[in-house]
Amino acid sequence: MNHLISLKKLSVSEILDILRDATRLKNGDEYKFNSNLYMTNLFYEPSTRTKISFELAQRKLGINIINFDINNSSMQKGESLYDTVKTIEAMGIHSVVIRHSMEQYYKELIGGCNISIFNAGDGCGEHPTQTLLDLLTIQNEFGSFEGLAITIVGDILHSRVAKSNAEILSRLGVKLYFSGPKEWFDDVCEYGTYIDIEEAIEISDVIMLLRVQHERHKPGQEYLMKNYHEMYGLTLDRERRLKTNCIIMHPAPVNRGVEIDSRLVECKRSRIFNQVNNGVFVRMAAIKHILQHKYGGNFIESSNKKWQSIV
Ligand code: NCD
Repeated sequence: MNHLISLKKLSVSEILDILRDATRLKNGDEYKFNSNLYMTNLFYEPSTRTKISFELAQRKLGINIINFDINNSSMQKGESLYDTVKTIEAMGIHSVVIRHSMEQYYKELIGGCNISIFNAGDGCGEHPTQTLLDLLTIQNEFGSFEGLAITIVGDILHSRVAKSNAEILSRLGVKLYFSGPKEWFDDVCEYGTYIDIEEAIEISDVIMLLRVQHERHKPGQEYLMKNYHEMYGLTLDRERRLKTNCIIMHPAPVNRGVEIDSRLVECKRSRIFNQVNNGVFVRMAAIKHILQHKYGGNFIESSNKKWQSIV
């Protein structure tokens, strides 16, 4: 496998291997590439967590990062994504991370380029590394996936996080539920069952909230935002009625007071910042998984476990 475009291309056992490596890295082991590898990160859409954690992962793996500033690149002269990636490849860069607003932007690239591509989000399409970090967060909490009741709440139609998560969670034997405005339901909801938010609160092991994707909405959907928090959000009252061990997840950035009451963002059940922390380790493990066969690398058992996860 040369790319990480979609988790659909990976078997369950490959995904569990990545999570196992991520856990080793989180527990203090190190992994370094032997060869001098170069990567570039192309973010055509804004990003905080994904971009920084990819960079941190690359540095921890000993990979050289070549900075690329979209706003000062030949993109501004009209150069296409394809020509940009082909150019980067021609210089000998080994791999590229791409976030782009176009769904399946990678299709034309895979046909014509050899460079390894990591999909950091394609429009409303998929976001495989976000899903890996979500899986690690759930695994850290419950040990396994089979039989867990997980409800994905909110803007499913426009969320690449929901799309990526739904497919693999159903493959892992999760009882999947979807909640929120029915106008934002999508084909992906066929992986699970609709559930009213009040019922979801009573039965879920994981409440996975989604950010309302205002930037992807077509005009005419504003009415759905009226009383969104009261109708579909995680209010203080709903949090009190969650199952004892239920955890709250959100890929962030969070619209405080919309998807979740601001006072719950850092509450005991919230794993929102654990998700961010896990993002570094799953991205290290994913890069290792894709690039190691091609370029070679070494796991180093670390005796110093002090730097392990702070969460
Ligand atoms: C997500 C994204 O960009 O799809 N953010 C992230 O990567 N953590 C979710 C979102 O923006 O809603």
